[in-house]
Amino acid sequence: TRPLKVALLGCGVVGSEVARIMTTHADDLAARIGAPVELAGVAVRRPDRVREGIDPALVTTDATALVKRGDIDVVVEVIGGIEPARTLITTAMEHGASVVSANKALLAQDGPALHAVAAGQGRDLYYEAAVAGAIPLIRPLRESLAGDKVNRVLGIVNGTTNFILDAMDSTGAGYQEALDEATALGYAEADPTADVEGFDAAAKAAILAGIAFHTRVRLDDVHREGMTEVTAADFASAKEMGCTIKLLAICERAADGASVTARVHPAMIPLSHPLANVRGAYNAVFVEAEAAGQLMFYGPGAGGAPTASAVLGDLVAVCRNRLGGGRGPGESAYAALPVSPMGEV
Ligand code: HSE
Repeated sequence: TRPLKVALLGCGVVGSEVARIMTTHADDLAARIGAPVELAGVAVRRPDRVREGIDPALVTTDATALVKRGDIDVVVEVIGGIEPARTLITTAMEHGASVVSANKALLAQDGPALHAVAAGQGRDLYYEAAVAGAIPLIRPLRESLAGDKVNRVLGIVNGTTNFILDAMDSTGAGYQEALDEATALGYAEADPTADVEGFDAAAKAAILAGIAFHTRVRLDDVHREGMTEVTAADFASAKEMGCTIKLLAICERAADGASVTARVHPAMIPLSHPLANVRGAYNAVFVEAEAAGQLMFYGPGAGGAPTASAVLGDLVAVCRNRLGGGRGPGESAYAALPVSPMGEV
């Protein structure tokens, strides 16, 4: 069988881990897919920063030429951000490749347009790694629960803010002190705005709500409140009531089924609730479906290896689809439900 050719766009923390596992687990991956997978090119901005273990002959700064080659089966996009990722993914699909992406900002903003390109070209677009790192959520919602009716998706989808809130809860520290600790330990980025103001969680909520309810939820539809105003005093009062505070993403179908809501805000949670015990930078998501009942997904929501795990799972699925001559699930946004700003609070 001919090898399936994979192009990697981006080779940072996640990309280098994807390349490493592709090499070290090559035999297992080939056995699971039914054909070998070959790393055919790695596009980066700074070739001098590419980690050891990647064949320098594969490294290029011309990502556009790589995705236009025409012989690439799967493009793995781990650059992040809107551009150039959007143009590269679109070009890749137009030149025959299926796409695996970890890009939540792009999928939250342009998911429908990218799905339309994928459908038009007969390609796959998979993005398990875009929401909650290693935790399987996209494929359970798109596939395992496709025969059920999901009514609610609720959880902690940002590890940085959970780390900060957990530190505030356990040490009595204020927001700034806990943020400084998160930064020092490498959890929070130098500019933590996307995490602490809830933009990252809102993008994930938009993606999850769209898939869960088979409708389109734009990032602007998500009501968003960050956690920068939460104080040590808030935690003290929460504790008196037997509660803690978490930044939650809440996606709900209205009781009459006629609309959906997606929102992100700090919320009080009883200590007896499983979400109260999600510590450090972990994520946890509850999915409530009509027939399945309540499901909980829990695990590391970020980091190189966990995110690479989700990317590689998608890579295997997309390669299998390709060998079988078919496609995986597309957008499935047939419900066209209005998104109401706050739902039934
Ligand atoms: N900044 C994100 C988090 C990374 O803290 O969860 C994963 O999307």
